[in-house]
Amino acid sequence: MVSYKELGLVNTREMFAKAIKGGYAIPAFNFNNMEQLQAIIKAAAETKSPVILQVSKGARNYANQTLLRYMAQGAVEYAKELGWEKPQICLHLDHGDSFELCKSCVDFGFSSVMIDASSLPYEENIALTKKVVDYAHQYDVTVEAELGVLAGVEDEVSSAVSHYTKPEEVVDFATRTGCDSLAISIGTSHGAYKFTPEQCTRDPKTGKLVPPPLAFDVLDAIMEQLPGFPIVLHGSSSVPQEYVDMINAMGGKLPDAVGIPEEQLRKASKSAVCKINIDSDSRLAFTAAVRKVLTEKPGEFDPRKYCGVARDFMEELYKHKIINVLGSDGKA
Ligand code: G3H
Ligand code: 13P
Ligand code: ZN
Repeated sequence: MVSYKELGLVNTREMFAKAIKGGYAIPAFNFNNMEQLQAIIKAAAETKSPVILQVSKGARNYANQTLLRYMAQGAVEYAKELGWEKPQICLHLDHGDSFELCKSCVDFGFSSVMIDASSLPYEENIALTKKVVDYAHQYDVTVEAELGVLAGVEDEVSSAVSHYTKPEEVVDFATRTGCDSLAISIGTSHGAYKFTPEQCTRDPKTGKLVPPPLAFDVLDAIMEQLPGFPIVLHGSSSVPQEYVDMINAMGGKLPDAVGIPEEQLRKASKSAVCKINIDSDSRLAFTAAVRKVLTEKPGEFDPRKYCGVARDFMEELYKHKIINVLGSDGKA
């Protein structure tokens, strides 16, 4: 058993309380490799922003859980080296799907876990979430739960509205589970194809898709039911068209990729939404950089040359999100 406190990490409790009071959101960036982690820590250290490092089950399988844990521990020391005296870094399990996985992360030094039982029937979601909360809280590890189902392009159900979080359930859910934060569904979704072309309109000038707005009325109703309770938005990449265009211009194929407009995330950040999850944008930045270097210099074969540029692209992206979208700069 390793406590995250020994590793210099923090849980989300204080981060979220301050973010709600201050009208900003904490960035939750996924990482799977060294370059992503370096870029996240550099961006957070330079902007003095609290940050949540997210590890998915897929990341654990890809990079090895032991290595990831030590990388996160190393990240705290790296942040200090960069001149960030008291780094506010949380190590969080993203989309944990079982009690065993969550327990293993708690035992292994994570400071926060998500139990995503949102696809289960309501009572089963409550039972599993409560089991994780009861375990995690013994070690002061915070727990994110999810209520409602994020729509996706694979979604066969025609009305996305039917998957939104039901405001009338949130008080019962939060009270009975004891969760520390709640991920909700108000129209965001995972990946680079958040909406089908049919769900969007098209800008007549650029031909680009314009997505439907997030359901701020549902968010307002949830906040009315649970005043001051930390709310989380998953699937919040904006899918920057500059990266999509670069990728497409250099041999890639991402037709009609579309994300959540940043103005809407800016608006959400000022509310009780205090954690915003971004993964796909970093993947796009990385891929755009690699394609650019390899297209412009076909003879390049040193991975440091293209992964280094990818790291620079991601660092710029993270700083932009922190400063211009979430407003968490200077808050750590
Ligand atoms: O919400 C999902 C995250 O983007 C992680 O994705 O499961 O492919 O690592 P992954
Ligand atoms: P994106 O795919 O929009 O980046 O969402 C990431 C996420 O929600 C991770 O949990
Ligand atoms: Zn997610």
